[in-house]
Amino acid sequence: MNRLIFRLLTILLLSSICTNILANDSKPALIPYPTSVEWTEGSYSLSNKTRIILTDRSLEEEIKFIKEVILQESGLSLPITSKNKEQSIITILTGGETDSYSLIVNPKNITIEASTKRSILLATQTLRQLIVHKDGEIIIPSVIINDKPEWEWRGMHLDVSRHFYDKNEVMRFLDLIARYKFNKFHWHLTDDQGWRVEIKKYPELTEVSAWREYNKHDLTLLRMAEKEHNTNYLLPEKRLREVNGTKQYGGYYTQEEIQEVVNYATSLGIDVLPEIDMPGHMSGAIASYPELSCFNSTGWGKVFSSPLCPGKDKTLDFCKDILREIFDLFPFEYIHLGADEVEKINWEKCPHCQERIIQEGLANEKELQSWFVKEMENFFIENDRKMVAWDEVTEGSISKTTTMMWWRPWARTALPIAFENGNKVILAPNSTNYFDFKQHANTLQDLYEANLIPSYVDSTKTDLILGVQANIWCEYIPSMEQVEYMAFPRILAFSETAWRKEERKEWNDFYQRMINHFPSLDKLGVNYRPLDLPGVFGVNAFVDNTEIVWNHPLKGIELRYTTDGTIPNNQSSLYTKPIEIDTTTHFMIRMFRPNGSAADIINTIYKKEKYRIGVYPEVSSPGLRCDWHEGIFNRVAEIEQSPIKETYKVEGITIPQGVNGKRGLIYTGYINIPKDEIYTFSLGSDDGSVLYINGETIIDNDGPHSPITIEGQVALAKGFHPIKLAYFDMNNGGFVKLQVFDCKGNEIEAQYITRP
Ligand code: ACM
Ligand code: ZN
Repeated sequence: MNRLIFRLLTILLLSSICTNILANDSKPALIPYPTSVEWTEGSYSLSNKTRIILTDRSLEEEIKFIKEVILQESGLSLPITSKNKEQSIITILTGGETDSYSLIVNPKNITIEASTKRSILLATQTLRQLIVHKDGEIIIPSVIINDKPEWEWRGMHLDVSRHFYDKNEVMRFLDLIARYKFNKFHWHLTDDQGWRVEIKKYPELTEVSAWREYNKHDLTLLRMAEKEHNTNYLLPEKRLREVNGTKQYGGYYTQEEIQEVVNYATSLGIDVLPEIDMPGHMSGAIASYPELSCFNSTGWGKVFSSPLCPGKDKTLDFCKDILREIFDLFPFEYIHLGADEVEKINWEKCPHCQERIIQEGLANEKELQSWFVKEMENFFIENDRKMVAWDEVTEGSISKTTTMMWWRPWARTALPIAFENGNKVILAPNSTNYFDFKQHANTLQDLYEANLIPSYVDSTKTDLILGVQANIWCEYIPSMEQVEYMAFPRILAFSETAWRKEERKEWNDFYQRMINHFPSLDKLGVNYRPLDLPGVFGVNAFVDNTEIVWNHPLKGIELRYTTDGTIPNNQSSLYTKPIEIDTTTHFMIRMFRPNGSAADIINTIYKKEKYRIGVYPEVSSPGLRCDWHEGIFNRVAEIEQSPIKETYKVEGITIPQGVNGKRGLIYTGYINIPKDEIYTFSLGSDDGSVLYINGETIIDNDGPHSPITIEGQVALAKGFHPIKLAYFDMNNGGFVKLQVFDCKGNEIEAQYITRP
């Protein structure tokens, strides 16, 4: 089933959903879905007769966790006893494959057989999802679940440098990700915009570098908060301090707070991977200790901030001092060194760096970076730690022992180099796994179905992949509410990728299960992104008149709207029944979650149209003309300002062989429209694209961006219609895809012709 039909059908299907976490076959909806689930007869009735059995004292913490989860989900505070009884929850440690567990529920009792202590926690998260409130009873349907994760590393990342979230907010985030069985928390603690971890030896890092006056991003956010009436973009007042009459914004964790978070993570089965990003992304620290840079100053090079100076011994000492305290704070065997996006302009000019290059017999500044990383890695190894670094470590030379975190899909040599060298790898390609990237109608499905292992890598080497991770960079995310908005429900979709390796084709099945998880997100007050409103595009076409029907897939989402261009608030018209219109109308629709919190604004036009008349060119040949303008563009309007490098004939919207990443492509010709009808065009691209039909802009998906798909409608009469599609990629691994649907939502295979 194609996406458009699916989205239209969900309108009809979802009206019968109940509020517990039930799938549509009335069994609880499990996410991530276990390896094997066999529903059996009857159910266990959870009541205050139920006992939680503790026979093995070493499992005390895990048994308390079971008690806590049952309390959260049922309100029942169950006694823990040491005597095995009927009506009980029994936990047995069996050994066996890491993280594997069985969960057996029958009308008499519930048994968890777990390989390790951690897998008791995993089983308990599954048990949580099985608890159903039905007709005043609390039941757990009988089931036999055998489960184990296929990825060892199931990571979620959070950048707390760009904006600070306090320990309680971080612990809530950990609780949420643990529910979906993530087991690694990558804590990006330092960057140009703020240093967030107390280092006893260098107190200025938190006294000074954890604070800033509002920067460019902050001011943009304040404007966005006002323009979009969105309080999630406000910079929390509680993060302000005043120093000598100047307002400063920031915050940091004391070492005690770090330990508290690490302990909490451990209690949830999560390892904390701290990142101290170096030698770039360091201007936060350099603001306090300018002598650590090449020329005693912070500042920016061409693209990135000026880095540390690896030519100075005192820089190396500083980094090791910091790492020493980090090693003491974080028990996890892995620590992240960053090593991404290092601007090397200063190094080229710096006498210390140049001297280091000569002394160490290095060929260039890239090798200087590798040398620095290896110095640090040696220090890791001396301290029994393993180093993780971003995929830039494959530029220059990489040691055998580094674990590489792959984030740049366009860095096509990174994975082959790492695999050839025998390095372990964690996959976090930004194309799908950066949850700070803007969301659109297909974000979730794209994420759910993404195959994270590129087809060009040697499939015999993939056992070097430790696992997968999603990242949230927070330049434009000043509040935990906005973190949740960006992360949910993406975390649910990604949890299945993190749990199971097989290709995910069961999107519809997942979609149903996901829908049934929203009531629990509501209960937790998660500020999730409500799903898109099906069948509503930027431009919706109609002829004569139309009846507008909006059906949100989530129960309890209110739709309020205006037609005068003002942003809807909780007093605006409430959508309760179909709206009839016979003139072009501009709607602003705002979704409100069941707790009343305002969410997305949908800006949409219902446009009254006449069928555009088709033409019949006399001389033509099949296909489209495609002109390649080589260059780096920011908007499609810039493409035609650079000369044509090559012209191709293509059957449809495909990228011709031979075109490289620096591409602006202009497709022109005619589209054959089979009958008078309203057509829906869906244009996805990375980076920007714009679709014109009959000279009119139908879809504007312009600007540098990650994959975004936008749909638009137009009324077209039978015949040929001039079509133009402009697309560019900024040399970072993009695509363009155009789909055409008839008024029933069926995809049609577009036929094109070109005039000579
Ligand atoms: C990164 O996104 N710079 C790792
Ligand atoms: Zn230097």
